[in-house]
Amino acid sequence: MSKIIQATDLQLAYKKNEPVIKNTNFAVEAKDFVFLTGKSGSGKSTFLKSLYGELPVSSGKLNVCGFDLESINHKKLNLLRKHIGVIFQDYKLINEWTVEKNVMLPLMIAGYSKQVCQMQAQKLLKHVKLSHKVEKYPLELSGGEQQRVAMARALAHNPVLIIADEPTGNLDDYSSEVIWNLLKSVRQHIGSTIIVATHRIPQTLGIDYKQYFLDEGNIYAVS
Ligand SMILES: Nc1ncnc2c1ncn2[C@@H]1O[C@H](COP(=O)(O)OP(=O)(O)OP(=O)(O)O)[C@@H](O)[C@H]1O
Ligand SMILES: [Mg+2]
Repeated sequence: MSKIIQATDLQLAYKKNEPVIKNTNFAVEAKDFVFLTGKSGSGKSTFLKSLYGELPVSSGKLNVCGFDLESINHKKLNLLRKHIGVIFQDYKLINEWTVEKNVMLPLMIAGYSKQVCQMQAQKLLKHVKLSHKVEKYPLELSGGEQQRVAMARALAHNPVLIIADEPTGNLDDYSSEVIWNLLKSVRQHIGSTIIVATHRIPQTLGIDYKQYFLDEGNIYAVS
């Protein structure tokens, strides 16, 4: 099976000689649904940031979707990011733009026509149960609704890899369920690989998943 993520002796640090991730080996296969757990400060967000080049590799190797991140240039990093959808806990929506335009953004960057972008945005907003809010602005929405918009935006360009950092951290059961269902559906229909950092694995996910645990700079499989 092909690997979507492969870390070999990976070290990640914000400051020299203070590694957060220490000589870690870790792999994710295509179509895996992976949960990363571990106590606060253990390095979950740090590891996820390295996967899309937000944090450079300190040493070792990190291959994501066929790109070697330890030696990647700016042009290739932009190309890699076209294959990835990222969902953060703080939604990072553009408050001056409507909900619909926020979701259209990655498609416009990818060069699709306005009509295609709009159709895809409306389809995704329907998926996250927000068809009635397309013309609203982010600040007119609740936190859970904003997160569902962010989710629709992250999935708009059918990413090969979806990276989600605490996507349901602040949400109620309804919004959480919408988000888990959408991730499952995208994986099933598009075949995306999904990696999620979370403190709470949903109890009724209803599909096979892999769980890993971060501790003292290493990543362990949870059997
Ligand atoms: N921008 C930064 N600069 C310096 N150190 C950082 C930075 N971001 C995180 N750290 C440090 O890296 C370590 C891991 O942080 P990280 O955010 O990856 O943890 P986490 O597992 O995601 O925690 P949480 O569950 O609270 O989100 C922590 O000790 C943190 O203080
Ligand atoms: Mg975190």
